[in-house]
Amino acid sequence: MPKPIPTAEPFRIKVVEPVKLTTREERAEKIAAAGFNLFGLKSTEVYIDLLTDSGTSAMSDNQWAGMMLGDEAYAGSKNYFNLERTVQEITGFRYMLPTHQGRAAENLLLYVMLAPGQFVPNNMHFDTTKAHVLHKGGIPRDFVVPEAYDPTSQYPFKGDMDVARLDAFLAEHANDVPLVMLTVTCNSGGGQPVSLKNIRAVSEVAKKYGKPFFIDACRFAENAYFIKQREPSYQAKTIAEIVAEMFSYADGCTMSSKKDALVNIGGFLAVNDHALYQAASGLGVLFEGFPTYGGLAGRDMEAMARGLREVLEEDYLAYRIGQVKYLGDKLLEYGVPIIEPVGGHAVYLDAKRFLPHIPQHHFPAQALGVELFVEGGVRGVEIGTNLAGRNPKTGEHDFPALEMLRLTIPRRVYTNRHMDVIAVACANVYERRAAVTGLRYTYEAPILRHFTARFERT
Ligand code: F0G
Repeated sequence: MPKPIPTAEPFRIKVVEPVKLTTREERAEKIAAAGFNLFGLKSTEVYIDLLTDSGTSAMSDNQWAGMMLGDEAYAGSKNYFNLERTVQEITGFRYMLPTHQGRAAENLLLYVMLAPGQFVPNNMHFDTTKAHVLHKGGIPRDFVVPEAYDPTSQYPFKGDMDVARLDAFLAEHANDVPLVMLTVTCNSGGGQPVSLKNIRAVSEVAKKYGKPFFIDACRFAENAYFIKQREPSYQAKTIAEIVAEMFSYADGCTMSSKKDALVNIGGFLAVNDHALYQAASGLGVLFEGFPTYGGLAGRDMEAMARGLREVLEEDYLAYRIGQVKYLGDKLLEYGVPIIEPVGGHAVYLDAKRFLPHIPQHHFPAQALGVELFVEGGVRGVEIGTNLAGRNPKTGEHDFPALEMLRLTIPRRVYTNRHMDVIAVACANVYERRAAVTGLRYTYEAPILRHFTARFERT
């Protein structure tokens, strides 16, 4: 019997960036000097950097070629028109405003739409979205399905909104809700996808109460790939068709192009409503720049337009989602507890099950991040108590339901050999888990404490 031929990365590597493996002693010293905070490390001290998939993609030769065609006119750059046409074709939205990154699009949208005291429902707010809602005096509310909080539930769309709860909330508070949002994929819940059935249902509920519906679209193509794999009626559709249908139910989207537009910087706000576009672009002049560049160089807009088309290629997405799954499957083989099923852009280690002897107030996910760095030079990011911050009313830690170390895979950057290294490093830490101790603060900033916190071992 001939063996089935495996598929390899759908690209050849043309430019390389050297990385260096340090010794365990060097790493132990560096992380102690950084106050046991992974954000305090220099990137050159890291062997495999899984802090984020944001802005860390490798661009294609076609995108780099586009960088040479930058039209740096202050107004009316040709790259802006190419980007506008691309966004219109892919999303179907009428108006597009470039921004320097995703949170800037959130800022403009919420500045225009949200008044103090109003609620914003979402499946799960990403931190920047939550921060922008709070900044405008609003109240973020998460209505993700309960399966999202069960780390071993195999539910295929753990990013879905609990539509019944959303409906009940709107029945009571519709007057105080200016818009409904949905994050695809759901980053804070483990990179979990949202089904098309759910997107349609959310839009119907929003319509029932006359509320505009916006998608946080950072990882829209990865979400579409999951729909194609897991939602039976979409198997024969192309990714572009699925993406078009996803956006067809919404009134607009915010986008961090640092994810699924395969660029290192950039974002946009896309909307159908002209008055909203006008208000946002007026404010955009204040925060971002003239509406045809929005804080970006012409060359950045060109790379973004090209990346938005590339990300729809199915062989790319099969490789991308496949690589994240490859890492997740290895970890499961080694018995390492992770959030299942594996999400689109990252594998999330479940620190509560990994280090059950460390109480949440001693930051098990942070401690795990420190150990993984010392073990293999791998830098993940804590999504747990340190990130969650304190409850503004009680001053107590805002203990999250899930305590996770996110191993975020940059796009087209690492090979599966790197995934093997990561998996073995995790397995080694798992083997010596009983000896891992927790952490306590020696410095804690009043806001966004996770970036600058310093710790000591308990
Ligand atoms: N929405 C989601 C779901 C995100 O994951 C991010 C960024 C943003 C909005 C904001 O976009 O960074 O371009 O301003 N996520 C990164 C991460 C930072 O590491 O998950 P931005």
